[in-house]
Amino acid sequence: MNWWLRHAETTTGVAPSLLAADFGRLADELASLTDAGCDIFHLDVMDGHFVPNITFGPFIVAAVRRLTDLPLDTHLMLSRPDLYVGPFADAGADALTIHVESDCDVGDTLAAIEARGVKTGISLNPGTALDETKPYLADLDLVLVMSVEPGFGGQSFRPEALDKVRELCRLRDENGWKYAVSIDGGVAGGTAPGCREAGADILVSGSWLLAAEDRAAAVAELRG
Ligand code: DX5
Ligand code: ZN
Repeated sequence: MNWWLRHAETTTGVAPSLLAADFGRLADELASLTDAGCDIFHLDVMDGHFVPNITFGPFIVAAVRRLTDLPLDTHLMLSRPDLYVGPFADAGADALTIHVESDCDVGDTLAAIEARGVKTGISLNPGTALDETKPYLADLDLVLVMSVEPGFGGQSFRPEALDKVRELCRLRDENGWKYAVSIDGGVAGGTAPGCREAGADILVSGSWLLAAEDRAAAVAELRG
């Protein structure tokens, strides 16, 4: 079974983005999302420089780590993620995803993540060509396709991202690579079927999933 799945019988992982969570009730939110059947927590780290928003750092990742055994997929929207691999690994991140657009040596940073025994991920913005990721694909554990401009939750899904999902699945299957393909931004009940059909392994959902009256039903709807 793939590392990101908690339920052997499913094929699509559901990853709530904690950006949409009530941090005044973080423990309750994590318990509620776990009970709803989520597979993996998606933690959106923003530095106010790579994206025009600031969220949280290793301190919060460590707090979440103390509250859950589910995998922590840490999305580093940082200009210099290379400077923070150690602190996030120490905090207990299971996967560290860096942006191919960031100002670091991407190959060296991925190697540093792997050297810490943490799963490696690359993310690309809607305006970034898939070719930018190709030098790294052979060894990755995760590719995170952005279907919105990073920085904020609650934006509209950009369907052109599905072309990258399809192409990434094709490249992986043709080459026998191992990465999971995840899609992030505007994923909801209405957009999830297209994501699944395109082959996405993980659906990241923030505002839609966390606002749902019945989170278990919402998780089931995302899974299809
Ligand atoms: C945006 C983040 C996403 C976002 C998803 O920069 O990377 O994870 O929080 O939230 P929704 O599902 O509301 O678009
Ligand atoms: Zn994210």
